[in-house]
Amino acid sequence: MTGHDAQRETAEDYRRFAVVEARGRSPRYEEFAARVADDPELLALLDGLPPDKRQPNLLLASVRYLAGLLPGYAAFRATVLDRRDELTAVMLARRTQTNEPARCATLLPALALLPPPLALLEVGASAGLCLLPDRYRYRYGWAGGTHRIEGRPGGPVFACQARGPVPLPARVPEVVWRAGIDLNPLDVTDADDVHWLSCLVWPGEGERAGRLAAAVDVARADPPRVVRGDLVDQLAETAAQAPPTATLVVFHSAVLAYLSPERRTEFAAAVRALGAEWLPNEGPQVLAHLPGFPARLPAPDPGPAPFLLTRGGREALAFTDGHGAWIRWFS
Ligand SMILES: C[S@@+](CC[C@H](N)C(=O)[O-])C[C@H]1O[C@@H](n2cnc3c(N)ncnc32)[C@H](O)[C@@H]1O
Repeated sequence: MTGHDAQRETAEDYRRFAVVEARGRSPRYEEFAARVADDPELLALLDGLPPDKRQPNLLLASVRYLAGLLPGYAAFRATVLDRRDELTAVMLARRTQTNEPARCATLLPALALLPPPLALLEVGASAGLCLLPDRYRYRYGWAGGTHRIEGRPGGPVFACQARGPVPLPARVPEVVWRAGIDLNPLDVTDADDVHWLSCLVWPGEGERAGRLAAAVDVARADPPRVVRGDLVDQLAETAAQAPPTATLVVFHSAVLAYLSPERRTEFAAAVRALGAEWLPNEGPQVLAHLPGFPARLPAPDPGPAPFLLTRGGREALAFTDGHGAWIRWFS
């Protein structure tokens, strides 16, 4: 690829990010990304980085990490150019590891269908905030009412719209063991890691930042263990540490897109070989090539593309909002 082609591809990524991802969620990031796409000086700087380090999310979070939330594109651009060495060092050192604890609201109904007590193993766990579904509180709403589930007093409350016959449990399931696996675990007791996590939340996303801070507080009281390693290579060894008397549940969200299709197939084979329960919550297109994936899915509701929650990668349970705001359970 010539330098010119690479720059065109990076510009296209930023344009797509602005229109497809940020529009309707973060007007400021929509503007910043769209303007980077038309800024040859910034595109040249990005193209000096390895391809996987040019992503819009990584640039936007890294600028925020260094300089805070900037009011307009002129200040953003000046920061990128004036602090380019510091900025590229952050972009090279950090990854996009957004940890969204509200995804527990869409995981909980599936967990509650399994025989307790549970042993939870999350792959691609980031800081492990989704490993604590029993420590949060939930408020499920629908046209006819509200259903509250209390985890631990003082935990954040995740509001989630229940669509369709969601099997809402009366209480959180008992969790007797939990562990995560991540290429680069983030540490909830480390101020720098927590600052990075907060920089990954986009401006304009309402309560997400507050929810994250509250979940970090809960996690700090008794941090979840997240093992450093690859989710295929580390799976069997970590799973073997779970107590045999508990139902072992392997789960993940927003992770398999980081793997090649071949590696995803290897992961599916490895997790099925464990004989554990497996609850993937990922974009349907990321799961579709796996053996046993359902031939037909219901049509998704209008709006941003949802995740698909499945049992074992074979039984489609629900479409879920990527940030846990709603769940559409299939009948
Ligand atoms: C977008 S974050 C999602 C975090 C969390 N699952 C959640 O839903 O909030 C994706 C995480 O997957 C991790 N990851 C990506 N590829 C991985 C691999 N091959 N093995 C282990 N972790 C991986 C990344 O380091 C990152 O922390």
